[in-house]
Order: sequence, then structure tokens, then C-alpha cells
Amino acid sequence: MNVNLQNVSSNHKPRIFNNPERFVEGWYWVIPSKHLRVGQVKAVTVLGRELAIYRGKDKTAVIVDAYCPHMGAHLAEGKVEGNELRCFFHHWKFDDQGFCVEIPCLNEPITVKLKTWPTAEKYGMIWVWTGETPKQPLPFVLELENKKCDAIFGSYFLVNSHPNAVMINPIDAQHLNTVHKLTSEINFEKQEINQNAIIFTNTKPNTGNSFLEKLIRPFCKNHVYNICYWYGSTNIVTFGTDGFYVHVMFAVRLLEGGKSEVQVLLITQKRQGIFGWLYNRVVLWLTKMAGINFIQDDLKIFETIKFDLKTPIKADYSIMEFVNHLERQKPLMLKTWQLARSKNVEVKETREKWQDTKSND
Ligand code: FES
Ligand SMILES: [Fe+2]
Repeated sequence: MNVNLQNVSSNHKPRIFNNPERFVEGWYWVIPSKHLRVGQVKAVTVLGRELAIYRGKDKTAVIVDAYCPHMGAHLAEGKVEGNELRCFFHHWKFDDQGFCVEIPCLNEPITVKLKTWPTAEKYGMIWVWTGETPKQPLPFVLELENKKCDAIFGSYFLVNSHPNAVMINPIDAQHLNTVHKLTSEINFEKQEINQNAIIFTNTKPNTGNSFLEKLIRPFCKNHVYNICYWYGSTNIVTFGTDGFYVHVMFAVRLLEGGKSEVQVLLITQKRQGIFGWLYNRVVLWLTKMAGINFIQDDLKIFETIKFDLKTPIKADYSIMEFVNHLERQKPLMLKTWQLARSKNVEVKETREKWQDTKSND
């Protein structure tokens, strides 16, 4: 049975899905926290937009547009002074809200503001919200909500295909059988957590005969496999059994030309004491190895695919549900981060303002 993509997607051609120019307003990873020391300023490009990021003496990371509102010098050439940033060209100084607080040749600064972006740190990573005010939490593991987390970095890689090709992979039920050789039946049930988050949970038990399935079966009586998506661009794959789960986060950013850069993070619950810390190192390392093994075959596909979901069938239904969820989010344009306006897209702003208490770190 063919499932018509346009029917499933509210009678409209997808505006965001697999679009090389658009992404969803949300939280996106920037650089690892440890790559930005107090007093440092760096140039970064995220989703096509050029930015400068610095860390002031209060240790807070600040993200601003890259070019000085005076004459356009790149602010990553500037200098961090306290919690402020001074442009290297004519020495105008901007505070961490972007307000100009000093112009050396004037007694009083003029009213000019540098664009700043909401910034947060979590899992050892600096994140940016690509709009004015965050309306949802940073991507977090639902099973670990309100718990402290321990995380390490996995692989970083560039792939030749759109982030959506990477994103849908863990809910592509057919490929779990064909590429990963799992023989269990897979059936996903979806649950929308909020306007920007959706989780797919496998409802079928592990009855497969592959080596991996047999190996984990004694340990996984109540086997769990779910995938949670945030902003259609970061997913967290959770697997394990009662009380013991591992979480692999794939944080993906769209690059120009419809390509992707992917940062993998491995996450687990924080455990107390030195033994808890050592235990977590082993758990996270094993998760990292499992993750590498699992995506090895996918990487070949991402390199050569001309991703275009033209003929979805019933087995692709979860992917269609992902597409529908994605299409209801707020679309922004690559580079400008401006709202992508389309005749048929109506974005309903129903979300509450983001509160840090909802996240789990
Ligand atoms: S260009 Fe930055 S102060 Fe002149
Ligand atoms: Fe895969």
C-alpha cells in the first residue's frame, strides 16, 4: 500500500522536511564548553549565521552576531574585558546584553545594540536558541527529567545528506531489519510531548534471532527502545531494560548545500562517589562503542544517498508522523534565521516561555 506523503502531511508539500534552506526555531549545539575559556572569544558559524562567542569573567558564555554594528569588523578579533566585549577596530565596547557601553572618542556612547542570542550550557556543550526568547527547554532525556546527568562526547562527523535523512534513521523500521539485521518485528507508537518534541516507542518485544538480539535478551526482559526528537534536528535514542537505560544523542545542524554536521553525545544518570563516576565511565564508553557500531553501516548510506522520500509505504508510517510533527513547527531560513514565510504555513505560537526547571541538568 502506498502512503501518499501529501495526504499524510495535511495536503501540503512539506515546507521544512528535507529542505536545504530551512530549519526549525529551537536550541542548537554550538561548541563544546571546554573549548571556550574565561576571557576567550571565538568565531563560529551555526546554521549559516556568522557569530562570535565569548566567555566573560562571570563564566557565562555570550553569543552575538559576528560583525560590529559600527563598521563591520569581526568581533571575534576583539577582546573580552570583564563580562564585556571590545571591538578591535575602533574599540567600541558592548555589554553581555549587546548594548554599546563605551565609545572611546565620545564622552557618552550612542544608542546602538549588538544582536545577542539566548545561550545555555548542558552536557558539556554550549547551545544557542535561534530566536528572540526560548520557548522550550534544551533537548533532554525524558527518562532523566529533573535528574542530574553525566555525559561524554562521541563522534563528530560531516555527512553529505540532509539532517532529516540522519534524523529519521532510528525510526526507519525497514532498515533496522535490512541494514542492522535485526529480525524482531518493530512497531512504533508516537507521543507528542510538546510542539517541538515527539517520542516514538517500540511496542514489540525482542524476539529476534540476530546475534545482538540473542546476546541482550537475557538482560532485557522488558526491553526498551525509543527515540525522542527535539526541534526535528536532535534525537535521543534510548535502549535498555528495566532501570538500566543508555541514551545516545545525535545533535544535527543543517549546513549549506543541504549537508549536515553531527555531534554524538552519550548520556547517563549521574551516580554518586568515585565508584559511581567510574561506573559511569564504563557505561558511557560501552554506549559509545555500541553507538559507533550501530551507525557504521548507516554512514555509507548517508554519504551517497540523494535523499528524497518519494514513495512512502505503510512501513514508513512513523516517518510520516515525524514529517507531520516537523511541519507544524516554526520554520526559519538558513543564514538569516528569519521566519520562512509560506502561503500555506500557519505557525501557531501556543508555547509557554522556556523555563530552565523543566530540563534535567
Ligand atoms: S568596527 Fe567595531 S568599533 Fe568600529
Ligand atoms: Fe541505522
